[in-house]
Amino acid sequence: MSAFQYRNGELYVEDLALNTLADNYGTPAYVYSKAAISESYLAYAQALGERGKICYAVKANSNLAVLQLLASLGAGFDIVSLGELERVLLAGGEPGKIIFSGVGKTAAEMRRALEVGIACFNVESAAELEVLASVAADMGVQASISLRVNPDVDAQTHPYISTGLKENKFGIEFQSALAVYERAASLASLKVVGVDCHIGSQLTKASPFLDALDRLLVLIDQLAAKGIVIEHLDLGGGLGVDYQGEQPPAIADYVNMVLQKLADRPQSLIFEPGRSIVANAGVLLTEVIYLKPAEAHNFAIVDAAMNDNIRPSLYQAWQKVLPLQENIEAEERVWDIVGPICETGDFLAKKRELKLQTGSRLALMSSGAYGFVMSSNYNSRGRVCEILVDGEQAHLVRERETFADVIRAEKLIKN
Ligand code: LLP
Repeated sequence: MSAFQYRNGELYVEDLALNTLADNYGTPAYVYSKAAISESYLAYAQALGERGKICYAVKANSNLAVLQLLASLGAGFDIVSLGELERVLLAGGEPGKIIFSGVGKTAAEMRRALEVGIACFNVESAAELEVLASVAADMGVQASISLRVNPDVDAQTHPYISTGLKENKFGIEFQSALAVYERAASLASLKVVGVDCHIGSQLTKASPFLDALDRLLVLIDQLAAKGIVIEHLDLGGGLGVDYQGEQPPAIADYVNMVLQKLADRPQSLIFEPGRSIVANAGVLLTEVIYLKPAEAHNFAIVDAAMNDNIRPSLYQAWQKVLPLQENIEAEERVWDIVGPICETGDFLAKKRELKLQTGSRLALMSSGAYGFVMSSNYNSRGRVCEILVDGEQAHLVRERETFADVIRAEKLIKN
């Protein structure tokens, strides 16, 4: 059941009215449900059991309290930068359950990750492999590695978030993978432990994942024939969520399909889910500042904008808009929900039938993933606050930025 439900015409998160949160903390604000995050994580963890680990993709929502919650449930983490590594450590994540993905890891990032003892590097190029080998040799340690292989399958999703095709910048070409593995196996400071892929995000069908898995299994057999033993298989993240009636496989069904295909192979499994754990656990609260009905379009100008959630502008993403209060005394019209930023691309939703008044409050649903983390200070707007709700209790887990926060690192020059 969704953590966001109407009770007597008021939209609630768990046992708190979102209107109360807006009164207490102001708008715009991101609000997350602890129960919803836990439920999705546990759906993965329980379906997978002892057969592997769930490494939450930190990039989807990296609030420390969210990471702390997932760490307390036993999650591992998939990171892509030094900043994400330090966040996970601060939040109590175990280094031995961290995997490091990304096409541009620097030597300094590798050094820090080796120092704290992460589980595995997902290496994305032959060049990166050489740098990692020399950093590890320098430190007198062995780095566990997996190669991110590009299986060249079509994820059938938005081109910006499709990553498993030949033309994408990610991973090592399937045809070159064997040779790069042989090179890795020959380097004393590296230990080959896995095979990895990540083919894209917001996938709503299981077939591309299963096609990618087929290709990886072929590679694992080829490697075995060369004496290279693979301990784990990492299928990346990418399972989609319901934004607008999409029907992706349920988390447990997806994991079970993969387990079935893996049958009695000895490899353990890693998943790197981000969106499917947090997207539908969060909303962005906003308030109507002005209504501007016009001949061509009715605009509702709200206090949240593209700097707070860039997904609609960047990917033409569709997210549901719900009023915090049903049954408002107003005529229903078709509205474009737009922000105060000076750009035509600044919109959160288009053509929505709503009853609105000045001061009406709205929830932009499914905002828990790639929402706050992609926000910016564009137009010198402070980033908004984040609230984690647990039953009747609200925790302010990030304060709203003040003007002083926005200019903190800037300096006037002396003349
Ligand atoms: N692993 C790797 C290596 C990734 O690059 C990603 C996401 C994930 C895991 C997690 O994927 P997920 O389970 O969240 O689909 N900003 C875009 C999505 C970008 C995804 C980038 N990589 C959006 O708002 O739709």
